[in-house]
Amino acid sequence: MASRHDGDTWDPASSVGATATMAAAARAIATRSDPARVDDRFAEPLVRAVGVDLLTRLASGETAPGDLVEQVWIDVAKVRTRFYDVFFRESTLPQVVILGAGLDSRAYRLPWPAGTVVYEVDRPEVLEFKTRTLAELGAEPTADRRVVPADLREDWPAALYGFGFDPRRPTAWSAEGLLGYLPPEAQDRLLDVVTGLSAPGSRLATENRPGPRPGDEEKTKAGLDRISGRWRAEGFDTDMAKLRYSGERSDVETFLATRGWVLRGNTVRELLAAHGLAPLGDDDLRTGDVRYVSGVLPRAWPPA
Ligand SMILES: C[S@@+](CC[C@H](N)C(=O)[O-])C[C@H]1O[C@@H](n2cnc3c(N)ncnc32)[C@H](O)[C@@H]1O
Repeated sequence: MASRHDGDTWDPASSVGATATMAAAARAIATRSDPARVDDRFAEPLVRAVGVDLLTRLASGETAPGDLVEQVWIDVAKVRTRFYDVFFRESTLPQVVILGAGLDSRAYRLPWPAGTVVYEVDRPEVLEFKTRTLAELGAEPTADRRVVPADLREDWPAALYGFGFDPRRPTAWSAEGLLGYLPPEAQDRLLDVVTGLSAPGSRLATENRPGPRPGDEEKTKAGLDRISGRWRAEGFDTDMAKLRYSGERSDVETFLATRGWVLRGNTVRELLAAHGLAPLGDDDLRTGDVRYVSGVLPRAWPPA
């Protein structure tokens, strides 16, 4: 599999698109095993419709996760889904933008206040697939859902404006499982653009993955290669280590704080403990350091 490059494209079965299907498969497993915490009834049928046999078997429960999906991924899917669900439930802003929406079905399953507009931004192939599949299932959005097909490395605000986005109104933004799939400079640009489009009172939820310590990159790659190898043996040919952009990138919380955002967060380790889920093993320490952060922009940026 080739490495990432500018202008590369994908659908839900290939390249970065498959990570959306993997995330949905983890939510399907989490929904079955822990319905009190995660309730994503659309995850399994979406994964099934993508048609990657191994992910369908895992999502449907036909194949037990066993060695094929590390327990930590399922537990992280639980706390992560819950974190963003709670963020949106508590934000109650009438304008919502889900960046890198993938197979996220919040626009169909959360009880949005009347009049909420939810914009979903992702590659056209991913969003068209989700819209078509959920329509075939008879699912109806619970908000005014607007699909914004765009590449987040390019001029996506133009597309967002085209669908009615109003920067004078506060927005609830999320970037869930997205930033590592953007080149470091595209991450900075995205966070700057989000800030510039945010009226005072806007809210944001995302993740902050701390910069790698010596040896971390190699350890992460070895872990991803191990899983990719097991999946390949089951007929799903993916190379997860090649999907993320590696190298130095800005610390998300510092970057946003210098632009006026007031954020708070917890590490995955803290969230797992708060939910009474198993602590991480030695191999997963880097995952444990990832912080889920959310907060508000009290004043417009840059100041007048
Ligand atoms: C790991 S998935 C996460 C999906 C979803 N947020 C979730 O948590 O289930 C990453 C998503 O980001 C999207 N994505 C990555 N890079 C993108 C880009 N340059 N433009 C648009 N979407 C992108 C992918 O298509 C994919 O749906």
